[in-house]
Amino acid sequence: MLTNIEEIYRDALSELQNAGTLDDVEAFSVKYLGRKGLVTLYLRGLSALPPDERPLAGKRSNEVKIALEEAVAKIRTEMEAKAEGADEGIDVTLPGRMAAAGRLHPLTQITLEICGIFTKLGFSIVEGPEIESDYYNFEALNIPKHHPARDMQDTFYISESTVLRTHTSPTQPRVMEKQAPPVRIIAPGKVYRCDSDITHTPMFHQVEGLLVDENVSFGDLKGILTTFVHQMFDAETSLRFRPSFFPFTEPSAEVDIRCVICRGKGCRVCSQTGWLEVLGAGMVHPAVFENVGYDTKKYTGFAFGMGVERITMLKYGIDDIRKYFENDFRFLRQF
Ligand code: DAH
Repeated sequence: MLTNIEEIYRDALSELQNAGTLDDVEAFSVKYLGRKGLVTLYLRGLSALPPDERPLAGKRSNEVKIALEEAVAKIRTEMEAKAEGADEGIDVTLPGRMAAAGRLHPLTQITLEICGIFTKLGFSIVEGPEIESDYYNFEALNIPKHHPARDMQDTFYISESTVLRTHTSPTQPRVMEKQAPPVRIIAPGKVYRCDSDITHTPMFHQVEGLLVDENVSFGDLKGILTTFVHQMFDAETSLRFRPSFFPFTEPSAEVDIRCVICRGKGCRVCSQTGWLEVLGAGMVHPAVFENVGYDTKKYTGFAFGMGVERITMLKYGIDDIRKYFENDFRFLRQF
């Protein structure tokens, strides 16, 4: 007896629903649609039906056959797509692809380190403008017009009365104008001079320091700078104060440290002298105090300024200052 095609169809559909793998689908296809499959055999057996039933049964059987073939094709494509997707998915056992991380420029790192040392000593950080008035850059610092000291710095003039600041020292009068003593600040930032060779770039970085209070002495200056150098380099690094001249300090000094490369024996970096200049410093000139309205009988103070490029070169043994600004990753990645 031939099984009813509707029963075959019903069974087939529920079986196909349970097919979980491509192999299941393959087996299903053989079982129902293969050469000896149930649907195939049913179709072949149609000739045994009474002639008047054949057309209808034949039509219906073909519909079932086509519906099942389509269902198989559909589920097969779905499963294959899923399998491919799994191949392209994330293999959590593979080593990851690292995202390139950014890092701080060596000059930024050293600036932060300098600021860190001074904030621990009680200094607060201030900033001033890079486009500066002639007044703060020069006049207020006791450098009048046509004074020969102006030649110490090759100034970029924007107009008669406006310059790109040539040093961070203008932050001194700016702070003192606004704040009564005691003052204890450092001011990091960019400065500009018309100068360019292996040791100079037209833009470079300085950190300025200023401390004003009653009874501040040169001894305090020496103490603070010695502490700074020992923390920045190491406790074996000795300092030397050489008399010098700056219009805004009196007395003034340039501060050298024992060469960190040769330890004083003499080498190319220290030009065989055993010493390296790292700072300008001194006791704030009374004329500067007068310009900001400080009582010169009551207060004294010291100031200092250092070049960040120079300190960074010494810390990392970099021999060409221009490398800082070429943005060559092979150079910058080392720090
Ligand atoms: N402003 C000086 C320069 O750029 C450095 C300097 C010297 C700063 C002595 C100071 C100081 O505060 O007291 O060459």
